[in-house]
Amino acid sequence: MKKVEIHPEAVERVKKFVLPDTNLAFGKHVAPVMIEAIYDNGEWQRFDLLPYGPIALDPCTKVLHYGQEIFEGMKAFRQPNDQIAMFRPEQNARRFNQSARRMSMPEIPEAQFLNACDVITAYCKNLVPRRLGESLYLRPFMIATEVGLGIKPSKQFLFVIIASPSGAYFSGDSVKVYIERDDIRAAHGGIGFAKTGGNYAASLQSYTRTTQAGCDQTLWLDESHQYVEEMSGMNFMAIIDGELHTPEMTDTILDGITRKSILELARHENIKVVETKLPIDKLLQDIVSGKCTEAFVCGTASVICPISSFLDKNGRVYEVKDGNGKISMQLREKLIGIQSGRNDGPQGWMHPVKEILF
Ligand SMILES: Cc1ncc(COP(=O)(O)O)c(C=O)c1O
Repeated sequence: MKKVEIHPEAVERVKKFVLPDTNLAFGKHVAPVMIEAIYDNGEWQRFDLLPYGPIALDPCTKVLHYGQEIFEGMKAFRQPNDQIAMFRPEQNARRFNQSARRMSMPEIPEAQFLNACDVITAYCKNLVPRRLGESLYLRPFMIATEVGLGIKPSKQFLFVIIASPSGAYFSGDSVKVYIERDDIRAAHGGIGFAKTGGNYAASLQSYTRTTQAGCDQTLWLDESHQYVEEMSGMNFMAIIDGELHTPEMTDTILDGITRKSILELARHENIKVVETKLPIDKLLQDIVSGKCTEAFVCGTASVICPISSFLDKNGRVYEVKDGNGKISMQLREKLIGIQSGRNDGPQGWMHPVKEILF
């Protein structure tokens, strides 16, 4: 494994950084350091911890034209003993490499990915906020840096990790969901399961539709326009007849780490989990009849956020019976308790970050 070289200016910058004592919000503040790694000649050449700053790219760089790019999103939390621990980072490492394979990009050995995350987190120890639900959000990403307009896989890549001290995303409000009946997010054989920028770019037109309709989140259906898939940046779950229903995994859905964690916690709490094809019209009928009592979105940023209503294309609004989500809030508290170190979770979920003195 390649050692991360520490740039002295990066250490100076991080020592001087003062964490704002306000509501941090999500992704608004950024740590003054970043990891950079260069891939060339068929291997990862070097890993550096550098001062945060712009990346200069030739206008012919492949990523700018063909979107050969992947990313991850993960969190580190301050524990009651003041140690810092990441939540299931090995899952992010694995998913990053799955995305890399689909996008014809080089993998990063899991140990190397985790070590880079450990190093930036250890140097950002004083930037990890203290309040419940707050975290240091890590954003690893990789871009194709070969210069040239030919459409072919790049031979050079840049891997970067930036970090953002973040507040609790969920303000206590439930979300209104807009059902996207026209566009689709992903098709079988495509890139839906990969965490790559194109999926998010393709969701932005619907984001505008969603917010113009007074809603907060877009609900995507599958290519037949019949089955629920996920949101633009979160997975979807509903409580139907007291059971936890969620769309089964396919290559059109991002395999959420929060999703799989919630399913494991729910099974442990003796809540029946049903991973299935979830027809949108049946879901709406179940909301009207009261069989579906709760629905919620889940992901690294929001953890769990209850859904209060669904807006359909014909203008009809479906209010969810328990819009504040009793079971969803119970699962949310459980998960936040584990992440913050207040409760024990399944073995290995929290990855302690070794302290580095500097
Ligand atoms: C499209 C999409 N679905 C689901 C999720 C939730 O995944 P996770 O729980 O790993 O954050 C995300 C966020 O990463 C996402 O971008």
